[in-house]
Amino acid sequence: MKGLILVGGLGTQLRPLTLSKPKPLIDFGNQPTLLHLLELLKNAGVTEVVLAINYRAEIMTDFLEKHRDYGVKVTLSQETEPLGTAGPIALAKDLLDDGEPFFVLNCDVACDFSLRALLDFHNAHGKVGTIMVKSVDEPAMYGKSVVVAHETGLVDRFVEHGRTFAGNLINAGVYIFSPQIFERITLRPTSMEKEVLPELAAEEQLYSMPLDGYWMNIKTPKNFLHGTSHYLSHLRLHKPQSLAQESIATGNVIVDPSASIGKGCKIGPDVVIGAGCVVEDGVHLARCTLLEGCRVCSHAVVLDSILGWRSTVGCWARVEGVSVLGEDVHLEAELFVNGALILPHKTIDSSVSEPQIIM
Ligand code: GTP
Repeated sequence: MKGLILVGGLGTQLRPLTLSKPKPLIDFGNQPTLLHLLELLKNAGVTEVVLAINYRAEIMTDFLEKHRDYGVKVTLSQETEPLGTAGPIALAKDLLDDGEPFFVLNCDVACDFSLRALLDFHNAHGKVGTIMVKSVDEPAMYGKSVVVAHETGLVDRFVEHGRTFAGNLINAGVYIFSPQIFERITLRPTSMEKEVLPELAAEEQLYSMPLDGYWMNIKTPKNFLHGTSHYLSHLRLHKPQSLAQESIATGNVIVDPSASIGKGCKIGPDVVIGAGCVVEDGVHLARCTLLEGCRVCSHAVVLDSILGWRSTVGCWARVEGVSVLGEDVHLEAELFVNGALILPHKTIDSSVSEPQIIM
């Protein structure tokens, strides 16, 4: 069986991290999102995955070179212009079409569910497509429309958020299509959400399947941090041995074995500490991710924030309010940083007390 992962978006909402790396290659829970998705596909019996790429092909090629033995065959389908969220399916037709249904995934979903169950459901109803949907409290946070479905799962229509409540089922960014989909998508920039899915629904060719278990789209820093909490809770239930022991952490925390943690620190809950990070004495970390190679100097505090690769936080500094430090950002000692998005390769020498972008 085959699958396609859409990895060609610019990921603008996850800047400044996506200024350094494409979104699917950013570590989420100490592993690139792309590897989480390849694992999901592999567990469902997928043996060949097409990555629909659009820009920075060389970064993706290097990455794949390093993960050559992953256990699934991965092929790149390179666009010469951005084809949107459905056009890449037409471009990859020759790679995907073996007469069987195939999966399509957005690259920014963090979740745990059985794609096998999705395949079984799809085969049972026999229509062209099935979309996974998630029931959420605030649908407007996750895109422009909600999915209105009949009790059977048949999708009635997509409704833009408005004054009247239309439901709380949102598109989870995970689909399966039968080969008839190739007759409906031509080789031009095309939107899955605005064109293909509403047309399928209008022709009663689209079913929906609710996604149990955790799900988050990790499009924005806030969602990235929420998604991380869900992922760590999932590990607590299914793989507790991968979490740090209570002697060094409170709640759900992952620490890469190559990271070091000083004395008297307060770490957790919901913290991810990446490879080679150094956390000095007396540091307090909660609900945050430290990407590879960061240093948090003694007695600093980092809450609800993401530190980009090889960044440093000076002694007694405090970072909070969904701040994101890009790659190689350095905060001097004793600063206060609240809700700042700081572009890569900057040294910051004065406090940033209100949310803003630091160019
Ligand atoms: P933002 O810029 O932050 O909105 O994120 P994004 O670039 O991921 O955009 P969007 O949410 O629309 O993308 C949904 C999925 O489609 C993601 O997996 C993107 O990587 C992917 N995607 C978006 N546009 C393209 C494209 O033109 N080509 C390909 N191959 N993938 C795309």
